[in-house]
Amino acid sequence: MSGTKTDKIRRHYDKVADTYDHHYDHHRGKKYHTHLSNHLVKVLPEGGNLLDIGCGTGLFVEKYIRNGGSGTGIDISEGMVAKARRRCPECEFLVGTGEQLPFEDNSFNAVSSVLVFSYVKDPAAMLSEVFRVLEPNGSVALCTLGKKLITRGIPRLYKLGEKIKVKHVVMKDFGEHYYDEMEMNTLFHDAGFSNINVKWCSFAHIDMIDPIFSLATKVEPFVEKSLPQLAYNIFVSAKKV
Ligand SMILES: C[S@@+](CC[C@H](N)C(=O)[O-])C[C@H]1O[C@@H](n2cnc3c(N)ncnc32)[C@H](O)[C@@H]1O
Repeated sequence: MSGTKTDKIRRHYDKVADTYDHHYDHHRGKKYHTHLSNHLVKVLPEGGNLLDIGCGTGLFVEKYIRNGGSGTGIDISEGMVAKARRRCPECEFLVGTGEQLPFEDNSFNAVSSVLVFSYVKDPAAMLSEVFRVLEPNGSVALCTLGKKLITRGIPRLYKLGEKIKVKHVVMKDFGEHYYDEMEMNTLFHDAGFSNINVKWCSFAHIDMIDPIFSLATKVEPFVEKSLPQLAYNIFVSAKKV
């Protein structure tokens, strides 16, 4: 992704900051986001000192600190960061990129990133920064777009959506990268991480209409475990030992 692509992503999220929560914090969107977040919460230390990369409007930070602990978020979009500050005034939010973190070494014991990694221009740089800012024994968990049967047509759909000017908070052509297990294992291993666990998550997608969405939520645990070709996202957790 070129610098122009990153600018396009930043401009887009600045523009949709006011409407983003209507999409992800209501009805199906909320269920979808909560489902993804639960995967991360389960593997991160409870009540820890969290850094959330690509924090958006602070949805994940808010969820994480409900069980105690503290939260810091960073995002390239000023508009999204402004919303996050309003959502969690007790937390710290900064404008910046996950590829160059403005924090000291060993600053956090938990790092998260929800639906961001596919946008990141230099994923190896981001993971090396995550490793640096994590304390020894700290944990990282992220989920992002996975390369599977069901996601194969999405880039073309997004390109078309952009051409015909569909108003949608994410339906744009940003040149996102869709990851598979091998790439994730290699990236995390090369960044120095241990206990790397890669799995597939989410089937009930926010853009499915009801009652298909409700039906999909029912079969989701089965899809995640036994039919990963139908999952949208890939989930990775790892430790800095
Ligand atoms: C789909 S939104 C997800 C927001 C939030 N994580 C959530 O779960 O609601 C993607 C976010 O990633 C941010 N982003 C994209 N590239 C980034 C980067 N390189 N560093 C930090 N944030 C980035 C965008 O500005 C946007 O807020």
